[in-house]
Amino acid sequence: MPKSIIINKHGGPEVLELVDVKISPPGPNHIRIKNLAIGINFIDTYHRTGLYPIKLPCGLGMEGAGIVEEVGSKVKNFSKGDRVAYASPPLGSYSDERVIPEKIAVKIPEGVTDKIAASIMTKGLTTYYLLYKTYKVSAGETILFHAAAGGVGQIFCQWAKSLDCKVIGTVGSDSKVDIAKKNGCDFVINYNKESFDKKVLEITENKGLSVVYDGVGKDTFEKSINCLKPRGMLVSFGNSSGSLDPINVKKYIAAKSLFFTRPALTNYVSEREEFEESAKALFEQIKFGKVKIKIFKEYALSDARKAHEDLEARKIIGSAILVPNE
Ligand SMILES: NC(=O)c1ccc[n+]([C@@H]2O[C@H](COP(=O)([O-])OP(=O)(O)OC[C@H]3O[C@@H](n4cnc5c(N)ncnc54)[C@H](OP(=O)(O)O)[C@@H]3O)[C@@H](O)[C@H]2O)c1
Repeated sequence: MPKSIIINKHGGPEVLELVDVKISPPGPNHIRIKNLAIGINFIDTYHRTGLYPIKLPCGLGMEGAGIVEEVGSKVKNFSKGDRVAYASPPLGSYSDERVIPEKIAVKIPEGVTDKIAASIMTKGLTTYYLLYKTYKVSAGETILFHAAAGGVGQIFCQWAKSLDCKVIGTVGSDSKVDIAKKNGCDFVINYNKESFDKKVLEITENKGLSVVYDGVGKDTFEKSINCLKPRGMLVSFGNSSGSLDPINVKKYIAAKSLFFTRPALTNYVSEREEFEESAKALFEQIKFGKVKIKIFKEYALSDARKAHEDLEARKIIGSAILVPNE
């Protein structure tokens, strides 16, 4: 019988339960897929803890790759046997098999493995919109990205480098410095040892930056603001250290006429055309070797708890996946 990770209550990794599930046939616009690999993302921990509200009981995981086993009566774009990847709600990718709306899936091109596809969709589509849509970077521009050795971080920094940006990355330990450098950072700051805002001002000769990409949130907010030049933009796209408190606009925003945005992937891929454009751009980066993916660790689906423990302990350096049990 197929298995799935579900949660009946919010809490730590211990609330993840592996259960048997019965898979219904796909509705008219849905496809049934056998997952071959499942991406692990920090957002999964927000769903688990209840930081991002979900209705319980609920499956977990937004991202996966697999083979289409059955298609609904009105499905036009997919056939049995297609290799597909996806990265959107409904939650429930932590599973052997599942039914998803066809609109959230794309075909995986030749040359991209199922495991790579499963590990890049959320992180890579996020990188695409951050670099091209939220704040469009220019060649030669210096930008700051926090947690540069992380899952999004490794993809983002390589991609930004391929656009000729000068990338400053932060990391939480010395062991991650070289990894961030190998993934495209020109400068790496260990923000647990140095004040990254002071260092950024030093690097930019006190000019500051036009953009800071901040997925760390609570712990980095104030210093990220300090790094910006007048009319710069803080792109606050995550909260791995905790959510931001309400912002004192007069103190943090008005003083330098800054722009503040809190983007979410769902708002950048909800239109099919935009989703396809983003996925195509991402797969091209992989195919042409501009972004290289090294999967840091594979966990069995039944070890999802351990994967969450490692992710929250900052032990996962890059992309990691769950692999369904044979
Ligand atoms: N808005 C969107 O559309 C969107 C989409 C995808 C991801 N995200 C966000 O992007 C960020 C990165 O996601 P990811 O899946 O690639 O995760 P990740 O970067 O692989 O892991 C999170 C990293 O955050 C850093 N961190 C800083 N303070 C931390 C703390 N108190 N606890 C745990 N980690 C801490 C750690 O790196 P160091 O040890 O180097 O500090 C850790 O490895 C997350 O905030 C996620 O929510 C947002």
